[in-house]
Formats: sequence, C-alpha cells, structure tokens
Amino acid sequence: MSTTPVVAGSLLDRIESARARTDELFELLKPGALYTRPIPERHRLIFYLGHLEAFDWNQICRQALEIPSFHPEFDKLFEFGIDPPLGKAAEDQPSDWPSEREVRAYNRRTREIIDEAFEQAPAQILNVALEHRLMHAETFAYLLHNLPYEQKAPLEKRIVHSTSRIESPVIIIPFGRATLGQKRGEFGWDNEFDQHEVEVPSFSISKYKVTNGDYLKFVEDGAAPPHFWVQRGAEWFYRGMFGEIPLPLHAPVYLTHAEASAYANWTGKSLPTEAQFHRAAYGTPSGEERDYPWGDELPGARHGNFDFHAWDPVDVDANPAGDSALGVSQLLGNGWEWTSTPFAPFAGFEPFPFYPGYSKNFFGEEHYVMKGASPRTAACFLRRSFRNWFRPDYPYVYSTFRLVEN
Ligand SMILES: [Fe+2]
Repeated sequence: MSTTPVVAGSLLDRIESARARTDELFELLKPGALYTRPIPERHRLIFYLGHLEAFDWNQICRQALEIPSFHPEFDKLFEFGIDPPLGKAAEDQPSDWPSEREVRAYNRRTREIIDEAFEQAPAQILNVALEHRLMHAETFAYLLHNLPYEQKAPLEKRIVHSTSRIESPVIIIPFGRATLGQKRGEFGWDNEFDQHEVEVPSFSISKYKVTNGDYLKFVEDGAAPPHFWVQRGAEWFYRGMFGEIPLPLHAPVYLTHAEASAYANWTGKSLPTEAQFHRAAYGTPSGEERDYPWGDELPGARHGNFDFHAWDPVDVDANPAGDSALGVSQLLGNGWEWTSTPFAPFAGFEPFPFYPGYSKNFFGEEHYVMKGASPRTAACFLRRSFRNWFRPDYPYVYSTFRLVEN
C-alpha cells in the first residue's frame, strides 16, 4: 500500500484541522443541547467535549511524555466512552457533569501543553490521537443525528435524488486472494495487524448497495422499519441530519446488522464476509490488488460520498468514478457495509500497550466487522486495512449492506 498520508501536511497541521472539524460540530448545538443524551446508550454530549482533549492528554502527555497532570479529575472523568447492550442506558444527571466553561478551559490548557510538547511525542501516539478524534467526528454525527431538529443549527444541504429506476446487476467475482490487514511499519490500529492473505472462492455480489426502495418491499411484507425511517400517514420519510425528506428510494438503506441479515435471509442470499468485501473492492482481473477500489489515486469527492462533504446519503449509482476494477460501486463511502464476519483478532494481533482495550474489549460475537465508509468518515480511514465494528442491533450507525450468493 501507498505510504503517502491521505491528508497532506504535517501531523501537527492534520491534528489542527481535525480539531477544527470537531470544534465545528459543537458549534451546531443550540443552548442547552450540550447536556442532553440523544442516544440512550451513549454519554451526554458534554462528555464528548471533554473526551477528545482528555484522550489526547492521557495518551500524549500522561503516558508518552509523563507530564504531570494539571487536572487529574477531568483526565479520569472524560477518559472513556460507554457501549452497553441496547436498553442499558446510563443514569447520570446533567448536574453530575462540570460546567461547559470548566471543560472548555481544560481543553484550551490541554491544547497549549500538547502544542508545546508535540515534537517530543512518538508519531504512533500522535496518529492514534488524530484518528481517535476523527473517529469521534463521525460518531458525534450519529449523536447529532438523533438530536431533535430544534436543538441544532439548520445546515441543510439538499441532496438531489433520482426517481428513475436503478437496476442492480449481479457481478461475478472470480476465485482469488485477498490481502487483509496492514503491513508492519505502516500506521494502523492494533486490530489491523498482522497482514495476511486469504483465498476467496468465487461468489456473486450486487453492484449497488441495497436501497430504501428494496427494503421498503421487506417492510411491506411485515418487517419493522429501520431507525432512520418515519411514517407520516401512508408516506415514509427519511430522517435526515437537518430535516425529513420523502424516503429516497435509490439511496442506500441505513440499518442494523440484524435487519440486514433478516433481509438477506428473506431474499435467500447472504451478507459478504470481510474477505469477500476485500475481493469485490480491491481485486482486479489480473490478480493484483489495488489500494482503493478505483485504483491508486488518492480519494477525492468524485470517488464517493465520504470525508465530510455531505451529511446524508446520495443515490447508490452516484459515484461511478469510484467503481472497483470488478465493477462494484460505492464500496467506499455513502454508508459502511455490514459483513457477516464477527469482530475478531487477526493472527499476530497484539493490543497497543498504551490503549489495550481499543479492540480487545470488543472481540467476539457481540460485534460485527463493517468495511467501507460513510459520508462522515474521514479520508484517512479509507485505507484498505481499516476495520470498523458495532453491535448487531445498534441502530444509529450510517451502515448499509449488499448481498452475495456463494
Ligand atoms: Fe473515544
């Protein structure tokens, strides 16, 4: 794989632009919203305001550089997020949290100290801090998505959806080898190691992601609607980030792993495995593998709906320039794709000593691997080896799927 960073500039420049990215998100909140909890299984929004800097402090200053803390209470309070089973919400009250003023003062001081000490910090830790912040730029968008419209600034950018019919051809992926994971020496999270090859028997896959229109037939047959849909009278609407729109029939359906699996069952097909996703995305007729589905060119807006250009999905046929060598569309962008692969370590996995729980706490049948990217996924996560994961019934993720036949 290419060693060129996807976002140009020094690490400090990249950290500064990531800070601007997450700062912008908090600017969208109307007064009072900061102490609400839009997703019951996650912390109140105020936690995330402190978490990004506390994480950077704990990783860069406390662990890597052993700088004495100026606020041990906040370092601890804001250290870790939560991921309880669905329905097991936390019970804290807004008054249990410090004031916004105190948290912002902590953040300012943390940034000043990091900027002064930056040169001494190991590049791996700085990359961890950078990517951790950008991951939260996406997961914070899930929280914002579930905040009532009147509690966030209206930022609506209209996405034009097509009304003409889209056929999704089935594409045969021949037998071949897929390289999973990241090469030692390159940056990746602990679960991306070790790199290894997998043989993948021939299978067929749909060119496009499954759409709202496809899923509507399943709902009309009795399935429950996904979290992102709402019915008004006889009409279905998509609950977008800044407003509801009539259900865009050709946009990918956002849904849980359990819903995607039930739909696959209903059609007699399956979800792809992680290795099948790699074959469809990175395989070529000659047997070589690409860095990105479209080739080795760095990701740009024409290749897919990712890297914060949009807040909601576009139609499934909107990015032909991003098609893979084998002709599969939108493998990166417009919604993560569920796989049938439970989140588990690769052979050779070793937890990061400075962040041992990052992956290890989530291995097992309780979480499934997602590949691809959503509209709110930063470009650095488009590297081939990156793996995301969520609980199979967590309904708030920008996650889609497509079908395979083995
Ligand atoms: Fe975090």
